[in-house]
Formats: sequence, C-alpha cells, structure tokens
Amino acid sequence: MGKVQQNYPVLDSTNSYAAELLSKTSPSEGTVIVAANQLNGRGQYGSKWHAEAGQNLTLSYILYPRFLALSAQFDLNIAVCLACKQAIEHFIGLQVKIKWPNDIYVGSRKIGGILIQNQVQSTQIKSSVIGIGLNVNQIEFPEDLPNPTSLRQINNQVLDHQQLIDVLSYFLEQEYLKLRQGNFLSRQLAYVENLYGFGQIFRFRDAEQLPFEGCIIGVDPEGRLQIEIAGNKRTFGIKEIQFLGQWGQA
Ligand code: BTN
Repeated sequence: MGKVQQNYPVLDSTNSYAAELLSKTSPSEGTVIVAANQLNGRGQYGSKWHAEAGQNLTLSYILYPRFLALSAQFDLNIAVCLACKQAIEHFIGLQVKIKWPNDIYVGSRKIGGILIQNQVQSTQIKSSVIGIGLNVNQIEFPEDLPNPTSLRQINNQVLDHQQLIDVLSYFLEQEYLKLRQGNFLSRQLAYVENLYGFGQIFRFRDAEQLPFEGCIIGVDPEGRLQIEIAGNKRTFGIKEIQFLGQWGQA
C-alpha cells in the first residue's frame, strides 16, 4: 500500500483523478494519488470537501478487492475507517472514534472523512477508489463547517505529510490483509467498539423528516445503524437517517 505514490500540486479531486487513471490504465494495487490542493474536493452525498491548500492530506488509494462480494462492501468501509483511526492515534494520545458510517472523530469533532467509490461488475467489486481527507496542519476553518479539528489543533505541532501517509499506508495494508483473509466478524466488532456515540442517546431525523430520539446499539453486517427507540430495535440505511445531535446538548 502506497509503494507507488503520485504527488500533484493541484488536482480537481484525487478521487476523480484515480477513477480516470483506472479507466485508462491499470495502476498497480495500492497506488496512492496525493494532491497538495484540490479545486473540487468531493465529500459524501455530493457535498464538497474543504481543505486549505498545502495544509491537509487529500489522497486516494486504488484497490482491486475482487475477492469481496458486493454484499460485503461495508467491510471495506470498516477496514478503511479502522486504518484511519489507528493512523491518527499513532500521532495523538487520544482515542479516535468512527462516526457512522465513516467520519473520523476526536472527541466531538471531525478530523477526517472518507469517500469510497466502487466500480462494480455483476456481484463483485472490480476496483475501488478509497478517498481520504485528513485535517493535518490547518488551524482555521470556515465557519460553516460544524465541528472540524486537525492534528495540529490537538497536538500543537506541525506534522510532516509524508510521515502520515506512510503510517496510514501501513495500517491500511494491515486492515486490507485482514479483509482479504475474511476476518469480517473481528473487524465488525472492532468497528462497533469504536463507534462514536455507542450506547448513547442521540436525536435523529428519519427519511420522512420526523425527529426522534434513540440509543445507538450497533451496526448490522450490511452497515445499517441499529438504534433502540422506546424499547424497540430499528435499523437505518445511510440515506434513511440524519444525526441531529446528542441528547441533552444543543
Ligand atoms: C466526507 O464527506 O466526509 C468525505 C470526504 C472525503 C474527502 C477526500 S479528500 C481526498 C479524496 N478526494 C476527494 O475528492 N474526496 C476525497
């Protein structure tokens, strides 16, 4: 992982560039595309990913998880989340949590985001672009970002990007090998153990825009969030629920 690294001063989006490379060539597995600046960084659900030029990590790995059935695609998400968590924890003395489905949190602040784009053929994943954005050295963020933080804000130290890429590549390789070995259950457990808000009550909004309160009790193997609401267990897909906030907090 990361043995082949392509660095660019500016790209529209490392995910788009990786997808373009995949459509024209056969990059070796584990190739990582790194941009010092993204002009059109992409976030989840069509949002934009903000990163100050030269300050943060914006990169995409190219993988060929052909061993993975489409029905197990959440396990790839788990592998990437756990790798990011371990890489960040390597640099800070605090626990890193995963906010379902794939936001990386320190305390109640977001330090990183993940955008995985799979190319699918029948029931198998043909190739996958693993986009990762980590806030590294940025200390000021636009006001409209709800709760950002960075490694520098936490550690008070400027961090070398390459060192972080090397550590991230190491943990991603470890997790990818576990995925390839089919260690699904152990990684699903590790994911739930490190879930932000596990066992806590949050306010949510459902697909009909109705607000409700419930306790996060787990994630099923397909990646749906399990919530206990007034003694009943309900599961929600990614587009079926929105976090509004923690119970008792504004
Ligand atoms: C999120 O919305 O939380 C996911 C953000 C993912 C951002 C990364 S930055 C590198 C890669 N290239 C992109 O355009 N997006 C991802």
